[in-house]
Amino acid sequence: MSESAEMEPTARVLPHELPASLREAGLTNWIREPLDDAVDRRRRIIVPPAAAVMGTPASACKGALMAEARHPDTVFMMGDNPALPAMPERPTLKDFFLLRFGPGPRTHLLQSARVARENGLGEKVITACLLHDIAIAGLLSANHGYWGAQLVAPYVDEEVAWAIQKHEALRYFPDESVGYSYPQAYIDYFGPDYTPPDYIRRDHEAARRHRWYMTARLVTINDIYSFDPNVVVDFDEFEDVVGRNFRQPEEGLGFDGSPVAHMWRTMIWPNNFL
Ligand SMILES: [Fe+2]
Ligand SMILES: [Fe+2]
Repeated sequence: MSESAEMEPTARVLPHELPASLREAGLTNWIREPLDDAVDRRRRIIVPPAAAVMGTPASACKGALMAEARHPDTVFMMGDNPALPAMPERPTLKDFFLLRFGPGPRTHLLQSARVARENGLGEKVITACLLHDIAIAGLLSANHGYWGAQLVAPYVDEEVAWAIQKHEALRYFPDESVGYSYPQAYIDYFGPDYTPPDYIRRDHEAARRHRWYMTARLVTINDIYSFDPNVVVDFDEFEDVVGRNFRQPEEGLGFDGSPVAHMWRTMIWPNNFL
């Protein structure tokens, strides 16, 4: 221990010493150099998930990135990434909000829930608003409504998970009868000529006929796009709602053996090689 603490950080590799292919692909940031005060001075290679780099120049450089791990004093990232705050042994929903989600998505979720509460809506809608973009915050953006619904399904009322799933499709379709117009943000994001794919159309039509339609629709109505980044909403504001509407597993999210535990573990250790 004391020997490694006195050792010079010889494992440190300067960016110009890395293969040109990695530098050109901008992949040097996937290599975690040892921290000066780390007991273990090995470099850690983070291999980006296929879903993150498919279709980008970075996917062609995975081999070069993996070759880096064969160097001495270098291993693949497994377990805690020192760049991320440590999670407690039995993490709760609040821990994921505070220790894993970025400030933008976190604020978006909390502010949407606050708007729902200010609009006098019920706890199911407030809960759905609080969780509606949880997949964007911590997992994957593509199909975020579907991923998000699955992530929380074992812990919330079926209606809440359903609303989270369907909000994604409903977002694309106005319902003027309840004051929901096609969002300007979507025109900015996707262009005025964008048309949603068939599966989104079908899901929207089915949702319109469903008895829980308004729950999902209310998520889209309280889903805010223009918010003041300086407004801070404390998670504790929703502690009571979460306590009544989210069945926090005793073993901690990720360790309860539920069919979605692995999804929570992926957010605890998002950079694991395997
Ligand atoms: Fe969304
Ligand atoms: Fe949203």
